[in-house]
Amino acid sequence: MLATYVWFPTRHNWFICVRLCRLLEIESDQCGRPAEGFDSCTGQQDTRMTSPVRVIVVGAGNRGDNYSQFATIHPERMKVVGVADPRKFARMKLQQRHKIEDENVFNDWRSIVERQKFADAVLICTPDRLHKEPAVAFAKKGYHVLLEKPMATTVEDCTAIVRACTESDVMLSVAHVLRYDPLIHKIKELIDAGVIGDVIHIQHLEPVGFYHFAHSFVRGNWRNQAESSFALLAKSCHDIDLIHHWAGARRCVKVSSFGSVSHFKKENKPAGAADRCMECSVENDCPYSACKIYLDRMKQGHTGWPVSVICQSSLPDIEIVTEALKTGPYGRCVYECDNDVCSNQVVNMEFEGGLTAALSMVAFTEEICQRKTAIYGSKGELSYDGHEIRVFDFLTQRTTKHTALSNAPKNSGLSGHGGADYHLMDAFISAVANNDPSLICSGPEETLMSHLLVFDAERSRLESSVVYCGEGKRA
Ligand SMILES: NC(=O)c1ccc[n+]([C@@H]2O[C@H](COP(=O)([O-])OP(=O)(O)OC[C@H]3O[C@@H](n4cnc5c(N)ncnc54)[C@H](O)[C@@H]3O)[C@@H](O)[C@H]2O)c1
Repeated sequence: MLATYVWFPTRHNWFICVRLCRLLEIESDQCGRPAEGFDSCTGQQDTRMTSPVRVIVVGAGNRGDNYSQFATIHPERMKVVGVADPRKFARMKLQQRHKIEDENVFNDWRSIVERQKFADAVLICTPDRLHKEPAVAFAKKGYHVLLEKPMATTVEDCTAIVRACTESDVMLSVAHVLRYDPLIHKIKELIDAGVIGDVIHIQHLEPVGFYHFAHSFVRGNWRNQAESSFALLAKSCHDIDLIHHWAGARRCVKVSSFGSVSHFKKENKPAGAADRCMECSVENDCPYSACKIYLDRMKQGHTGWPVSVICQSSLPDIEIVTEALKTGPYGRCVYECDNDVCSNQVVNMEFEGGLTAALSMVAFTEEICQRKTAIYGSKGELSYDGHEIRVFDFLTQRTTKHTALSNAPKNSGLSGHGGADYHLMDAFISAVANNDPSLICSGPEETLMSHLLVFDAERSRLESSVVYCGEGKRA
């Protein structure tokens, strides 16, 4: 029963599971088999639990705040009963919104695990380097875990999280939100239905966006590997996970990768530029100017991301944003930061049976994270632009268009990633309420396998060599 719980959402995962059992040294017959006729990611109403699923939010920043809004949309399905965050503003915001009792408001997650279990699940939304410890501790206390991606920043820590959840018989959902996007799910359905025949090649682009990259990966939380993680893990573990998912039961056998920090370096600082945008005489000609990214948006009444991120202790207004740019990290010249993560990276993969895949992650784009994918098969070509899927059939030479409806509410904290944030929460809460891990699309086994692939790709980049997956030490 334990293993069925954690290991086997789908029949297609069975092969992955057997490999993973070896990695974790678990007997494969402990794993059980996927339920017949199961169809995940389609959303399901809760039937078992009559009272709302009780959750604790650990890390009430941008993501924790967003996910907690599921309780506002569906109070009958989820209740936020606890919060932990060292930032008073962040935890108070959630306490007020969800009427959390004083005794359940903490400035550190450790205080919660010292207490008797008082909720069904935990949403772990702390910074990248603070995932493993709370994930393992909460799993051991018997909480079901929704864990932000990346799972953790080392192979050992990712593996330890999966092991703790397995041994504690709790569900783990990693926030690979794209897996819950109805269009992404549709792509998998079309592949599995054979509409393009055998999948031969997958080409996938992650356009990070020029100001998004400057915000998050040059000035912000993910700029420096020692403080967070390498860019491929922080940004594109989603994308490798999608490629791995679309490749199906085929294992990736080899990977190579190249990438570096381009442009955002001291030597590219324009003549006459100051160290801070607020004092810079050439700021007007700079697309990465903090005045344009934050202050101009604020002046137009935009107080959401990325403006909200730079105001850590209060709601944004013009004075607070101005002060943050004068003194804080987000007002720095992009050519004078301590950034060291890649701004562009390519990953080439070969899967069993000769399926090849190529991922490009690039900072310098107009689109903000609007992925583009082309999947080439023996009978047709499938392309995806984030809005619709087109399938060109080689035999009939006709193109069919596919869309997928999302019932995610608009203009809430959960409308992010095209509504996929909502669908992730919907699936996790349903899984807990129904005691049914098959509703989770991003469970431990596939997620760990795709994370391992990310570590292999980064090792290839660092060593300038082709890496045979699973062999040798990972990055
Ligand atoms: N799934 C996605 O698409 C997606 C998107 C963005 C970020 N993320 C990931 O989500 C995580 C959180 O990102 P974010 O943008 O919300 O960051 P954030 O900085 O806004 O929030 C993190 C919060 O954790 C709090 N925290 C720090 N130490 C803590 C502790 N000991 N106990 C409790 N709380 C603590 C911080 O004070 C902060 O409020 C990161 O791992 C990030 O990589 C995922």
